[in-house]
Amino acid sequence: MVSTPTAIGSTSQTPIRASIQALQSDLVAWRRQLHQHPELGFREHLTATFVRERLASWNIAHETGIAQTGIVAILHGTQPGPVLAIRADMDALPILEENEVSYRSKHDGVMHACGHDGHTAIALGTAYYLSQHPHTFRGTVKIIFQPAEEGPGGAAPMIEAGVLRNPEVDAIIGLHLWNNLPLGTVGVRSGPLMAAVEVFDCEIQGKGGHGAIPQQTIDSIVVGAQVVNALQTIVARNVNPLDAAVVTVGTFHAGRAHNVIADTAELSGTVRYFNPVLEDLIPRRFEQVVAGVCNSHGATYRLDYRKLYPAVINDEAIAALVRSVAETVVETPAGVVPDCQTMGGEDMAYFLQKVPGCYFFLGAANESRGLAYPHHHPRFDFDETALGMGVEMFVRCAEKFCS
Ligand code: NI
Repeated sequence: MVSTPTAIGSTSQTPIRASIQALQSDLVAWRRQLHQHPELGFREHLTATFVRERLASWNIAHETGIAQTGIVAILHGTQPGPVLAIRADMDALPILEENEVSYRSKHDGVMHACGHDGHTAIALGTAYYLSQHPHTFRGTVKIIFQPAEEGPGGAAPMIEAGVLRNPEVDAIIGLHLWNNLPLGTVGVRSGPLMAAVEVFDCEIQGKGGHGAIPQQTIDSIVVGAQVVNALQTIVARNVNPLDAAVVTVGTFHAGRAHNVIADTAELSGTVRYFNPVLEDLIPRRFEQVVAGVCNSHGATYRLDYRKLYPAVINDEAIAALVRSVAETVVETPAGVVPDCQTMGGEDMAYFLQKVPGCYFFLGAANESRGLAYPHHHPRFDFDETALGMGVEMFVRCAEKFCS
């Protein structure tokens, strides 16, 4: 069902905030509709239909089916000018929702536990507002509705499909509703914001045998334990102490009995860092450490080391623009939080590798209303007041960049 937003002022003289506040009930309704029908990456068919129907009902030009379920909406100001892209992700997570709310997920085992339902609603609200106020910006605003942020990643295939071209995008912005920050704040900084994400699976092959006769074996548990410890020296001894990085071994499986020496040990984990100079160093040292420890014990190994997303790195000038807009939106300098880096990852990184831009966090937690569970938690939910703030951030950024 396509709803026309509550009538809002259509002249450029209307204060932005009042117009957006009039949209608030629609933003909440859209977000709740999406929340009830969450879909995993590249399967966002209902979500894409929801977005498409609204864009069509507002006569906003758009293209669908990009990188499977992605959509790009194009909004033109009344005069020529620069091109700003705004990116929102649409996918949900394989989590069984534990919230008992009227808008609880109707898809068993799938949940919007990261707030991407809110991102989609905010992008729709932005598209609607800009379509009604074409005199307030020059040039073009492209709104990118992206699939599969949670994996395997929809940003890279959308870029390959040409979403940053025709017209050529000059800058890009995006936001994440953020329960690590309270409602009424915006986390924004230039430079690295979120970490590069890499994962590994490592199988160590020793030689099994009797637990009482170790001299006949190569104990994969002893080798594996040394690998775990030695891997920590990458961060401790190879990475510049002024650069942040983490190597986490998340699983270690080996052995079946008290009196048997295990012939294989399987380890897996994740590596995170901000500085792109580490993108060669860490995987190289990683394999050297695994190989060296295994060799010293006569064990062999199989290592599968995979790079998922690069680091999210914001452009200084665009971050400054977003920061100045945030100061207007939150109305207090204390509400703009530069200290907001996280080792979480985001495929917004790929867009930021291609064009200067800024990804920022929109505070969405409200402890007093029980809305402060972490992202990806089965009780995750956020304060929907943030939806209107998100639209105001995007609209003001668009009007400032395209002025
Ligand atoms: Ni997310």
